[in-house]
Amino acid sequence: EYHISRDIDFQVRNKTKRLPHALIIGVKKAGTRALLEYLRLHPDVRAPGPETHFFDKHYDKGLKWYRSLMPETYKDQLTIEKTPSYFVTKGIPERVYRMSKKTKLIVVFRDPVTRAISDYAQLASRNPSVKSFDEMVFINNETRVIDTSWTLVKIGLYALHLSRWLEYFPLNQMLFVSGEDLIRAPASEMRRVQQFLELKQHITSDNFTYNYTKGFPCYKKDSSKSSWHCLNEEKGRQHPHIEPSVRQRLQDFYRPFNHRLFSMAGRDFNWS
Ligand code: A3P
Repeated sequence: EYHISRDIDFQVRNKTKRLPHALIIGVKKAGTRALLEYLRLHPDVRAPGPETHFFDKHYDKGLKWYRSLMPETYKDQLTIEKTPSYFVTKGIPERVYRMSKKTKLIVVFRDPVTRAISDYAQLASRNPSVKSFDEMVFINNETRVIDTSWTLVKIGLYALHLSRWLEYFPLNQMLFVSGEDLIRAPASEMRRVQQFLELKQHITSDNFTYNYTKGFPCYKKDSSKSSWHCLNEEKGRQHPHIEPSVRQRLQDFYRPFNHRLFSMAGRDFNWS
């Protein structure tokens, strides 16, 4: 009994806030919330709920501040944080490297065309007077030259952003998740994630159900006891109708960048 209580005491004392071992760095609207919530089903993973924006907006507050936002963990638990703006913000790879060059990095990718439309749907839901997608995406509606300075377009140039991370981190420290597969086959995508993070394979198909009303997977923590959770109504929004010719124009624009990404990442995401 003495040993047991000493053991518990040791464990409790060892529960402390730690800097993240792994980051979900992007990309916005690709399924980053779903991935984080799925990871939180794992008993050896802890993560703050909100995005901290430490490396882009609050870097001057220092690592001590950053650590204070983290949940308490035991030594063998992983601390994970997600802020999707990290992937596309210049200067962040170096900052993460300075925190720890061993940080594991996860990026969720989604077809950049649907990603942009999803991002626009979010914009429009928050600001109903926003210009139409076509008006924003083309510099000139007649020539249909794409406005590459529009943030929603720029975020989708994945190969360019990834190359900045690869200046600091080796490929084997990064995992690329398919946002499409995370919806189609969450359990098998989570198998790859758990393997990459060197976690026990705890999250399985028992944790997921397809919810036909929502049109997305919903999830639960424990295969027997708990109830199903779905992401809120801000995830899985209705997208506006976009003319096929506009879509086509964007697809053509992204194609060479996509192919560059596939060869850099060693994974073909099969986007059109
Ligand atoms: P849409 O709203 O365009 O469908 P993020 O969390 O990075 O902002 O990504 C949001 C996207 O996550 C949603 O975009 C949706 O397609 C996707 N997603 C993946 N799994 C989901 C789930 N279980 N429930 C709702 N949305 C999910």
